[in-house]
Amino acid sequence: EIKAIIFDLDGVITDTAEYHYLAWKQLADDLGIPFDRIFNERLKGVSRMDSLQMILDHGGIVLAEEEIEALAHKKNEHYKTFIGKITPDDLLPGILPFLTQVRAAGIPTALASASKNARPVIRQLRIESYLDTVVDAASVERGKPDPEIFLKAAQQLNVNPEQCVGIEDAEAGVKSIKTAGMFAVGVGTKTAMAEADWIIDHPSQLTLEALKSHYK
Ligand code: G6P
Ligand code: MG
Repeated sequence: EIKAIIFDLDGVITDTAEYHYLAWKQLADDLGIPFDRIFNERLKGVSRMDSLQMILDHGGIVLAEEEIEALAHKKNEHYKTFIGKITPDDLLPGILPFLTQVRAAGIPTALASASKNARPVIRQLRIESYLDTVVDAASVERGKPDPEIFLKAAQQLNVNPEQCVGIEDAEAGVKSIKTAGMFAVGVGTKTAMAEADWIIDHPSQLTLEALKSHYK
């Protein structure tokens, strides 16, 4: 029986995964580093500093700590201009009906996001009341693929991880859910989401009935 559902934010609830991509793309272009959507898949769910380090390594660029900090800040400034305009209209289709079904069924929910921008985003989307707890980048020591963030969410909801469902669009995120011992729903391609227990192309395919029929 499903005792809790833990949501990733970027790319599951709203299309901020696209904004992260565009912000990194802008930075990589400025640095003359090749960057495409395929490489970007590896950055999904990965912290800002780790993502930047992967991009710099990819371009064979070595920089001092200060310069790296400045670039991370710059990426976040690009990103903030995108998210500044977020409204409830930016919820991905199907998410609000799903959150409503989950609430009606009395199933506890959590957000497990590696983003330091998670709180303003959920506030702007006006979905705070659908989430019982939020675990973000500031509350964990180890990022995805480490299971800490999902385990912490389960703990805060007082639910056994084996009875939790995690929903992710990132390879690192699916790994985090599976290592936590949870059932993983992967939103994305069969290749990227290979380790997930149930793969869907789009969040609009999320209904409680469909989830229950795949859950084991
Ligand atoms: C999420 C996104 C990543 C992003 C990370 C940190 O996990 O999927 O693409 O790098 O959050 O986001 P932040 O807003 O803190 O830079
Ligand atoms: Mg994501």
